[in-house]
Amino acid sequence: MDVFDKCDMAMGPLGKYAFQAEGYYMFPKLEGELSNKMIFQGKERLVWSLNNYLGLGNHPEVRKADADAAKEWGLAYPMGARMMSGHTSKHEELEQQLAEFVNREAAYLLNFGYQGMVSIINAMVDRKDVIVYDSEAHACIIDGMRLHFGKRFVYPHNNMQNLEKELERATRIVEKTGGGILVITEGVYGMTGGLGKLDEIVALKDKFNFRLFIDDAHGFGTMGPTGAGTDEHFGVQDKVDLYFGTFAKSMAGIGGFIASNKKVIKYLQYNMRSQVYAKSLPMPMVIGSLKRLELLRNEPEHRQKLWTIVHALQSGLGEKGFDLGDTGSPVTPVMLHGTVGEATQVTYDLRENYNIFCSVVVYPVVPKGVILLRLIPTAVHTLDDVVYTVNAFAEVKEKLENKVYSEDLKVQVIK
Ligand SMILES: Cc1ncc(COP(=O)(O)O)c(C=O)c1O
Repeated sequence: MDVFDKCDMAMGPLGKYAFQAEGYYMFPKLEGELSNKMIFQGKERLVWSLNNYLGLGNHPEVRKADADAAKEWGLAYPMGARMMSGHTSKHEELEQQLAEFVNREAAYLLNFGYQGMVSIINAMVDRKDVIVYDSEAHACIIDGMRLHFGKRFVYPHNNMQNLEKELERATRIVEKTGGGILVITEGVYGMTGGLGKLDEIVALKDKFNFRLFIDDAHGFGTMGPTGAGTDEHFGVQDKVDLYFGTFAKSMAGIGGFIASNKKVIKYLQYNMRSQVYAKSLPMPMVIGSLKRLELLRNEPEHRQKLWTIVHALQSGLGEKGFDLGDTGSPVTPVMLHGTVGEATQVTYDLRENYNIFCSVVVYPVVPKGVILLRLIPTAVHTLDDVVYTVNAFAEVKEKLENKVYSEDLKVQVIK
């Protein structure tokens, strides 16, 4: 065998769709200005699949800050990893402002959220420690845990009785090893929009000794009275020991941060391998993030507009009888029932005949027979977009129930 053989035979769980779906269902190209309407395959579509929650991606002040910073600094500076030669006062200023915003003593930038998460987990636990985590944890959490030499226990998504059982097991182990326990959950689960039960998890701190780490990629900027995140929403910021946010969603940028107390951040600064051994965020991204954070903090109207759209969309779909699962956030999953073939036809019909572009998720990401159409409302959507989409979805649902969609995987126009 040759290690390259797998490239012909087993393309992997997602790669197996490459030949049927690439360019349309996978790796689609959305072109034009980031907005509620963008060009897909040469035609304008109403887009519900960008995590540009607050609409900052094309805010004129953000565009100007990005462009001015690129003009002044280029994309090269600073060169090198933070520890060696890639450190600047602007990086520190952004960290200080992020820490202040999420109500923590200190923060540290991550050049990518994903790699940052992997290295935070890797740095925080050793073989004596036990990780207890939610079964729907994001891939970056799973990858971080793959580096862990100690025990790790999973609890079924948001199941607090099971979490308690796993904490009892973990406690017995660390009593022997002399280690500690790290519980990892997400603030907002990005696929379904459900919230991690942070209030109930922190209540378990009365019974068990553990540290709580939340990945709040989708909650940062969207949740809580000031947009500071899901722990602010639950009023438990002081009980969440490690707070992770990314710039890839509400901040419409790239990179991320970890916030905690000064001692922990200092430790992480020297021990997160993906940050110690990789290049620091380029200056335009740091200066652009300062501008985004300023707007996020000082212009609550973006978050208010987002929530107006969220409430209109979710109540409109609810009134038409759609099952939206347990979302408690802007993420709006629409659950339908059908085969993978029907899912592709539904998506195609929405894109080609209704000019609505949204993401579709099927088995094995969701159970067999479930079609999850995921809508991401943003501050740049309009109430007209909502009405149009709710009506289109109602028509599509009726067609699905009446078995209008063929099960033939080959894409074909329905109407
Ligand atoms: C829950 C969650 N955590 C972490 C990440 C990774 O963040 P980044 O895109 O900044 O690498 C994502 C996706 O972007 C995410 O959805």
